[in-house]
Amino acid sequence: MFASNKRHRKVHVSMSSYATNTEVILALDVESRQKAMAVLAEVGSGLKWVKVGLQSFLRDGPDFVRELADTGYDVFLDLKLHDIPNTVSKAIESLSGLPIGMLTMHACAGSECMKAAAETTRKHLTGAKLLAVTVLTSLNKDGLREIGLEGAVAGHVERLAKLAVNSEVDGIVCSPLEIEPLRRILPKETALITPGIRPSGTSKDEQKRVLSPADASGLGADYLVIGRPILNSPDPAEAFHGIMAELEDADI
Ligand code: C5P
Repeated sequence: MFASNKRHRKVHVSMSSYATNTEVILALDVESRQKAMAVLAEVGSGLKWVKVGLQSFLRDGPDFVRELADTGYDVFLDLKLHDIPNTVSKAIESLSGLPIGMLTMHACAGSECMKAAAETTRKHLTGAKLLAVTVLTSLNKDGLREIGLEGAVAGHVERLAKLAVNSEVDGIVCSPLEIEPLRRILPKETALITPGIRPSGTSKDEQKRVLSPADASGLGADYLVIGRPILNSPDPAEAFHGIMAELEDADI
């Protein structure tokens, strides 16, 4: 089901042409593998990271991850794993040998699960970072109450982020509004990965709480996950390079 030997347009990636500490991860939220490779060809050089989510991983599988890595990209595999410790560990073991730079799981799976996942990641995905998602941004205070969690969303985010870091997770996926409070309470080596980024003048789509690339970087985000502002742009290369130039200026 996963294997595909289709040929794709060749993309050549040149790395690190921007002097900024904040990396952009292009979310490959497109309808096909062919479309993903075509977008990458349009964006061209300078992009280092791409995000493969459940939609494309279930459709295109490990073979797609290998193709991206062979082309020169670092892959952020956003599977948001959430199960009992043994099952999550075995799932990570199944990814063994795949060229993955970052992998996500839910902090709500608990400390035992996160510790087991961190250990399996170190053993089977050498060099990969394990990241935790705290509270899904689709859940507000009422949504949390429905599942038995009283109180403000921010409190749950901070508690789960600390639990994740104490369970040897390497980084946290957080909303733009959470960068500042998390930066304050987490060790500086904890990576913060932030979606909900919109360069000024672009559509917010359905994202409600957005920040510009420079603002998110200034608050302490290490990686920005960006999809539609690049994917839907009439000129994806210009959109991407505009964001990188903004980040470079903000770092000076
Ligand atoms: O197109 P856009 O830039 O909004 O894409 C953001 C990416 O980050 C998408 O892949 C989306 O699934 C993901 N994401 C998000 N908000 C979250 C968590 C993940 O937008 N809270």
